[in-house]
Amino acid sequence: MAPRKTTMSMPDINVPRRLLLGSTAAAAAGGLLTGFGAGGLRSAEAAAPAQEAPGGPGFRPFYGQYQSGIIDAQQEHAVFAGWDVLWRDGSRKQQLQALLQMLTDDAARLMGGRGVLADTEPEMAQPPSELTLTVGLGQSLLDVAGRGRIAQLPAFAGDELEEQYQQSDLLIQFCSQDPTVLHHAVRAVAKNLRGLARQRFAQAGFMRPMPGRETFRNLFGQVDGANNPKDQLREQAVFGDGQDSWIANGTTLALRRFEMDLDRWDEVDATGRDFALGRRQADGSPLSGTSVDDPVDLAAVNDLGLPSIAANAHVALAKPSHADESIHRRGYNFDDGQHAGLLFASYQRDPSTSFIPVQQRLAAADALNTWLKPVGSALYAILPGISEGGYLGEQLFS
Ligand code: HEM
Repeated sequence: MAPRKTTMSMPDINVPRRLLLGSTAAAAAGGLLTGFGAGGLRSAEAAAPAQEAPGGPGFRPFYGQYQSGIIDAQQEHAVFAGWDVLWRDGSRKQQLQALLQMLTDDAARLMGGRGVLADTEPEMAQPPSELTLTVGLGQSLLDVAGRGRIAQLPAFAGDELEEQYQQSDLLIQFCSQDPTVLHHAVRAVAKNLRGLARQRFAQAGFMRPMPGRETFRNLFGQVDGANNPKDQLREQAVFGDGQDSWIANGTTLALRRFEMDLDRWDEVDATGRDFALGRRQADGSPLSGTSVDDPVDLAAVNDLGLPSIAANAHVALAKPSHADESIHRRGYNFDDGQHAGLLFASYQRDPSTSFIPVQQRLAAADALNTWLKPVGSALYAILPGISEGGYLGEQLFS
């Protein structure tokens, strides 16, 4: 059947669909000009207004106090995608506001298991398999909003940063249990952002939680995530209190890309590996104990009277020296075909008291550094959660 004609003139498809939608998500959701995306509107489902994700297994909530994908359990697949905004004439603040409203609509739909507006493959959004989109802004966009300041990441010793993995304006952490759903979500958002922003990176990662736990094996073979703060301690480390109003119920994300020299790691025996980390590769137990849940005790000594955990072991240097240093790690393994390593991702309320000093200690002396090459480094303000009818980042404009 021939496509139905419309009396409205067809916009130039090089003009981003989103710009045609006016500045509010409500306009988008209300169906203004729907059907004019590249490829057109494919289904009534894709045109339906965004709704809260249905509860139940397979869905993570889109609306809530916090964005999903931060303190909830890690999904097995992730893509950290960064974009730099392409500004047009006129108010940048309004462009940013419109962009955030559009992303809100996209995220609500995708996490609810539906395609974005004018999605060419809405079928691929279903079931969402615990899909989350977690949106963050670099300082450059906070500056455009005229509100909010996050600590800047300094250069760290040993950094060999590559331009492509450096700070972007916008960051979306996509996570799902299903890599196909994940791929669709990243691509759907990327298509909608065409002409509005230039994609700087899409860093894909994977992990498999160990049975009944939140730990996973990183590509060195180590049990990773054992000493992440749990429950209320995690919430406190990530969202805490005493935050400025613009970021209350939001947080920050430090994203670092570490290539691992797995060939040289192969040459290290079990004792050397355990010594460098301060925990045993076999079961993740600290060298000061016998089980993975035993505390990392830096005062413990071995039979020879020497410290069980060396002063330059990774866990010795990483261990928070006070509560304000606590961070919540939510990283992923990566293998891009050329390099393998860890997409280190940590959430923390204030990076200047936590992530930055810990990373400085590690960069200066961590025994693991021999096999690590940091090639990416960025920091984002992760926006507060919202209620239905609101949009991500609304606090920046109030
Ligand atoms: C490729 C780089 C890295 C690898 C392979 C790695 C691996 C590990 C492993 C296996 C553990 C022990 C288990 C656990 O408690 O999770 C650990 C602990 C930890 N790591 Fe890392 N890590 C890396 C980078 C970093 C960075 C950049 C930071 C922060 C700046 C960091 C902070 C921590 C913290 C806070 C702990 C817990 C220490 C404790 O209290 O016991 N790690 N890491």
